[in-house]
Amino acid sequence: MNIASFGVEEWLNVWENDAIYDIAGSSIASFSLEEIISIDGTTPKEFFDGLLKTKMNYGWIEGSPDFKKEVSKLYKNVPPENILQTNGATGANLLALYSLIEPGDHVISMHPSYQQLYDIPKSFGAEVDFWEIYEENDWLPKLNELKKLIRPNTKLICLNNANNPTGTIFDDDFLKEIVKIASNVGAYILVDEVYKPLDSSIVVSSIVDLYDKGISTNSLSKTYSVPGIRVGWIASNTELADSFRKYRDYTMICAGVFDDYLAVHVLKNKELVYDRNKKIVHTNLEIVKEWVKNEPRVSLVFPKYVSTSFIKLDIPIDVEQFCIDILKEKGVLLVPGNRFDVPGHARLGYCTHTEILKNGLKELSAYLRKFDK
Ligand SMILES: Cc1ncc(COP(=O)(O)O)c(C=O)c1O
Repeated sequence: MNIASFGVEEWLNVWENDAIYDIAGSSIASFSLEEIISIDGTTPKEFFDGLLKTKMNYGWIEGSPDFKKEVSKLYKNVPPENILQTNGATGANLLALYSLIEPGDHVISMHPSYQQLYDIPKSFGAEVDFWEIYEENDWLPKLNELKKLIRPNTKLICLNNANNPTGTIFDDDFLKEIVKIASNVGAYILVDEVYKPLDSSIVVSSIVDLYDKGISTNSLSKTYSVPGIRVGWIASNTELADSFRKYRDYTMICAGVFDDYLAVHVLKNKELVYDRNKKIVHTNLEIVKEWVKNEPRVSLVFPKYVSTSFIKLDIPIDVEQFCIDILKEKGVLLVPGNRFDVPGHARLGYCTHTEILKNGLKELSAYLRKFDK
């Protein structure tokens, strides 16, 4: 089976550990184990007392009842039995695609976006059409273009809401239009929802709450700041959940007793996590706004409190070369936009620890000055 290399992951695997200022990532500043355990005042001793006598067997195969209950609370209408735990959102996306896609199927994927969402279906033999997003349109795609792409036999539409790398958000009105187009031909809609906008004024529904053939995937990696436990999930209707169960048995057994235990703790404290992360997103976005205002070689469609952004760089050299040079010379890590098929841009992961962001942007600006001469 042929599959393209995963541009972003390949880049990060090679360069991530060389960074002094990692402003490339899309998670919100990760918690240390101690920080996340004590977020609600629990001491590490109390936390581990609950775990030390627990058998390190496979535990709950689909995720513990507490896990499923907590995840189900994130949706309006998904019972715990329709939640399946996965190895991260990557595992959830893979599970959905593995279960649904057969050779010859027609799939439409938002582009650029998270590469799994188009290259896995392609690798399974699907014909994948790109639904392009446009910078001049605030990185939104056009509904009339989706209407042109959809076919009577379209099996699946893949979206990332909010989108990596641009931070584009589809609000409910937009999502409902997509649902209308999909439901006319009975297509499924898979939405990777790992990036939740962290502002109270922005409410974005999960696709599973809007459409019976909607499939929502998510994880604790981005908005919840604990990518170090590999816990994600897939939420769907009962028929789909039963199908996913079947395929899941072949691809994973469980996420692990410890990971499930910590995941439940995170989810039970989700409001505290959101409060902490809202502060980071708001503070850091203000820093980025101020920086862009004063940096003539950068422009940006500002994300709406989503933890990833995609800067446009006015530089006379290839962006990947630029990113390699600045990493080697200054320790600043970005993801070059060509890794998302968009040259001339770079992913700026601005929701890292605030001091790292400030110093990284300072170094980036100083480095850009060399093109002014
Ligand atoms: C859209 C999207 N989905 C999934 C992932 C990976 O999530 P996880 O760590 O839960 O596997 C990423 C990571 O960058 C992402 O951007």
